[in-house]
Amino acid sequence: MPSVPHTFDTVPQVWPHRHLLDLERLTPGEIRLLLDAAAQLKEATAGCRRKLTILSGRTIVNLFFENSTRTRTSFSLAARRLGADVVEFSASGSSLSKGESFIDTAKNLEAMGIDVVVVRHSTPGTPHLLAQHLDVGVINAGDGAHEHPTQGLLDIFSIRERLGDISGATVGLVGDIAHSRTARSNVWGLLKLGAKVIVCGPPTLVSKRWEELGVEVSHNLDEIVPRCDVLNLLRIQFERQNTRPFPSVREYAHLYAMTGERLKRARKDLLSRAPGPINRGVEVSDDVADCPQSLILDQVTNGLAVRMATLWLTCGNRLPETDQTGPAQPGLPAEKTL
Ligand code: CP
Repeated sequence: MPSVPHTFDTVPQVWPHRHLLDLERLTPGEIRLLLDAAAQLKEATAGCRRKLTILSGRTIVNLFFENSTRTRTSFSLAARRLGADVVEFSASGSSLSKGESFIDTAKNLEAMGIDVVVVRHSTPGTPHLLAQHLDVGVINAGDGAHEHPTQGLLDIFSIRERLGDISGATVGLVGDIAHSRTARSNVWGLLKLGAKVIVCGPPTLVSKRWEELGVEVSHNLDEIVPRCDVLNLLRIQFERQNTRPFPSVREYAHLYAMTGERLKRARKDLLSRAPGPINRGVEVSDDVADCPQSLILDQVTNGLAVRMATLWLTCGNRLPETDQTGPAQPGLPAEKTL
């Protein structure tokens, strides 16, 4: 396992990337390095609460074109915990409304001496495009239905913290797999670390083509629940759907919501988690969301640790080396096209 220097003075040379665009192109060793760094930073900041100075003098810009509670806030806090300055860019009050292009906007922000752009956009590949045009680091905070790498990492970090190891664990991803960038990042990260992954939901939201990646496909939650060590309960992304994928929310919840009844048939030590925001009564019932096995709020705290590690690796002191500046080439396209 790669070691992370306790001083965080320099980024290890085994981390060659300037950007974090997706998990698809990270190696298992790079993912473990990032998780190890997150664990050390969580400890060094007393549970993500204490401030350090390892990114003192750096400036992070949050460039969000979609709504966010967790990701935006935790990137801001993570940057501040490491001593960096943070700029919150708001598209609605910007000169985009006067016709300035997205790339020109980003280049103008870059010209102000920033070090990293954290970008969320509804169009898949937007962070990859920015990485081609900017000389500063780019972090993908969610690009359409493609990937949400720091969410995948914090989900995996939270499992590893409880189980000790990802390898051999059976992880079920339940819900709207077709429109979920979180599902894609989880699948890549979990497979690379040796987990067995099951994707589960209605046939309209879970394609059989996931099997091409070595993922099990199921449309029967009751059948998979007893076999899982971890369940990740994904939100129905109504905002990304052009057609209704099931007759009613009530029917969906009957078949695919994780409830107290279903929990009784799960392993005693089942870990249930959800990336948030959660819709209580749709993908998860109150008693499951709030049960002791629920990792939902642990995940939010761990989001700070993972984002501190991501910021350190993308703009900490390092040898000049770039990677990942090519166009988006996800191995599995947005499932709508499958
Ligand atoms: N999980 C997640 O990305 O949450 P936000 O949309 O609130 O950032």
